[in-house]
Amino acid sequence: MEDKLFNKPILKDARKRSKTETTVLEYSPTAFDSLLGDRKRYCIQTHGCQANVADSEKIKGLLESQGFKETFVEEEADLIIINTCAIRENAEKKVFGELGRYKSMKLKNPDLIVAVGGCMPQEEVIVERLLKTYKQVDIIFGTHNLHKLLEYLNVVMKEKRRVVEVMSVEGDIVEDVPSARDSRFKAWVNIMFGCDEFCTYCIVPYTRGKERSRLPEHIIAEVKSLIELGYKEVTLLGQNVNSYGLDFESREYRFSDLLQDLSQLDIPRIRFTTSHPKDFSSEIIDSLSKGHNLMPYIHLPVQSGSNKILKAMNRKYTKESYLKTVQEIKNKIPGVSLTTDIIVGFPGETEEDFLETLDLVEKAGFEGAYTFVFSPRSGTPAAKLEDFTLMEDKKKRLYRLNKIINDGFKRGNLRFLNKTVEVLVEGHSKTNEMMLSGYTKHNKLVHFQGDMNLVGSLIELKIIDAKTWSLTGEILHG
Ligand code: 5AD
Ligand code: SF4
Repeated sequence: MEDKLFNKPILKDARKRSKTETTVLEYSPTAFDSLLGDRKRYCIQTHGCQANVADSEKIKGLLESQGFKETFVEEEADLIIINTCAIRENAEKKVFGELGRYKSMKLKNPDLIVAVGGCMPQEEVIVERLLKTYKQVDIIFGTHNLHKLLEYLNVVMKEKRRVVEVMSVEGDIVEDVPSARDSRFKAWVNIMFGCDEFCTYCIVPYTRGKERSRLPEHIIAEVKSLIELGYKEVTLLGQNVNSYGLDFESREYRFSDLLQDLSQLDIPRIRFTTSHPKDFSSEIIDSLSKGHNLMPYIHLPVQSGSNKILKAMNRKYTKESYLKTVQEIKNKIPGVSLTTDIIVGFPGETEEDFLETLDLVEKAGFEGAYTFVFSPRSGTPAAKLEDFTLMEDKKKRLYRLNKIINDGFKRGNLRFLNKTVEVLVEGHSKTNEMMLSGYTKHNKLVHFQGDMNLVGSLIELKIIDAKTWSLTGEILHG
């Protein structure tokens, strides 16, 4: 019975890249006999990066268009969706743990529908495991077809059978998928999808398909509509935003052009993530240096400071060229805040290689970093490399690195002590219900006392204390 809507991923197909131009499709809602979500509730778990957060907002938009209401209490849900991340093994372990819990919930409520989407289903090994041991999963769908989720739900609800639909394709762009955004003043805006870099440790090019840029007119229209809705900040999303537009065949329009065009719009804050150092051109830096609403905060993943390891990672830049880019950024955007990603314990990394990373960290002056121990991902080239370093030693390296990174974090906060900063107020502070919190232009977290009606507005604060992880501010009156 499972021949229709039964497609498993094929890793060797996911690796392929052709020269065919991206197809841009427009989302068209399917008409069902009755509202699928009438009096039904859904609960969604989102793992991983901002791309997944943005995807989850689309999943919510689709479900709510069919009458589903969100609940944060799993036991109340008729539908549980896990939007998964495949970047490291830990992220995957968490999902399998959650699925164990849903098995017993399903025994109590056989009508409960469990769906697994996102990056994990794009992996062959994962789908095999889900099919074999996790019978409680009703829908397995991938990153290329989340806009079809309602069709899959309809099949599961009407025909009471499992749907497994994962496409190992290069991918299209689907415009106008409805989105139920989490915030009413900060929004994610996808500017491109996929990745063609094939860093040797990374699973993303296999799970998210080829690099494909949305047309600038679609992006600009989306930002304009967000402005009309009162949004104050947009974050442009892509795995490597610096290569935006390189896939356009019939136009010369790059990330620097997009930044310039967007900076003309009446939105107070524009951010972007994430950048690849090899494509961070002088044109991009020049655009950033001009824009009043382009935030002076850049996340520029370096991964390692050793040229030998960077080469083995297929990163296509050197420690020296990275530091040169950093210098140009600092010269042209005074006071810029810079953060990074670093992997320790890549196969073959020696103590000397690691010391090169520590040296780069000192020289670049990062004000924060996400740091990780290398996690082998099945099907990637690095997973096949011989690795002689003990996990215990890798963890010691991570600890040494984090100490230096945390010093940088504190240094970055200290430079705002006694200064006046602008903050976009987000809501109650997560650590103290009595306080509000928000982020500065440089992406520094500030806690302060104030009224809830400030949420969503931009206010000026004087910084009166600076700790490693946050600042404390005071509202400036008059
Ligand atoms: N192991 C550890 N860290 C990884 N990252 C990507 N793939 C892996 C892996 N296999 C890290 C990189 C990247 C960030 C999003 O996750 O540092 O920039
Ligand atoms: Fe992964 Fe490299 Fe692409 Fe980033 S640029 S998503 S690390 S392959």
